Amino acid sequence: MRHLISAADLTRDDAVLILDTAEEMARVADRPIKKLPTLRGRTVVNLFFEDSTRTRISFEAAEKRLSADVINFTAKGSSVSKGESLKDTAQTLEAMGVDAVVIRHGASGAPFRLATSGWIDAAVINAGDGTHQHPTQALLDAFTLRRRLVGPDAGLGQDLAGRRVTVVGDILHSRVARSNVDLLHTLGAHVTLVAPPTLVPVGVENWPCEVSYSLDKVLDRSDAVMMLRVQRERMNAAYFPTEREYARRYGLDGERMAKMPGDAVVMHPGPMVRGMEITAEVADSPRCTAVEQVTNGVSVRMAVLYLLLGGNEPAVAQNRPAPA
Ligand code: CP
Repeated sequence: MRHLISAADLTRDDAVLILDTAEEMARVADRPIKKLPTLRGRTVVNLFFEDSTRTRISFEAAEKRLSADVINFTAKGSSVSKGESLKDTAQTLEAMGVDAVVIRHGASGAPFRLATSGWIDAAVINAGDGTHQHPTQALLDAFTLRRRLVGPDAGLGQDLAGRRVTVVGDILHSRVARSNVDLLHTLGAHVTLVAPPTLVPVGVENWPCEVSYSLDKVLDRSDAVMMLRVQRERMNAAYFPTEREYARRYGLDGERMAKMPGDAVVMHPGPMVRGMEITAEVADSPRCTAVEQVTNGVSVRMAVLYLLLGGNEPAVAQNRPAPA
């Protein structure tokens, strides 16, 4: 693997390797000194053309825990406002000696273009592009699901075969939904999408999942219910139900959560809009993994960086924590 552009590019073995490597990284995070020397002397640039809290900070934490030199770039305040192109921006950064570029961009396909254009030699990791893909989000979601549903140690080498995951909300604009459908299918899970008809993408019948318009009908057969934020910034008000109507039909409250099987979990990639897709009661309940997903994101991003940039070196093995 030279780049990570789409969850659809990962085979089952690629994905399980990343999840298993992330388990090793999670053990490093539990140590008093949370650093590995694996990427010492390597430079990673975080190239963010769209806002982010979790993904940007999580990649930066992952890079620093692997001892990489980190450069943070945000389009706001850069020469992008003067009309500089993605190509020129990327080549400017590479001229300073960059080994990997983590890119978030509002245009679907921007990371693919960067990885395949020949503009730069650095490894490219997609941190979210338009409505297309967010592969490290899907990986951290799968990691969280495997830990919760199978267990950290029992989960090693395992996929999510037979697990039932329901993804609810604004599927139309969601790169998280697309990445999760691809990865969860590859890992053997059964995915059901639930959304108002106006927020279901054209062509969804070709995706490897089911579609339902009723959340209430699928709750009792879900091992996990993943709530999505409604991305108002990407939509026209004309095709969106009112907030009240949306919360009534597609929001997850305590009454609906009680219909889920006892060990089923509630997930959210963040940022959450409390009161709309999820009530505070559900968001703050022990069944909700939203904060755990953020913690797990650092380990998963460490694993991806390690496998892309340092995977042929034995640094992680040398630093493998002793069995407890
Ligand atoms: N889940 C996610 O991508 O969050 P941010 O937009 O805060 O990075």
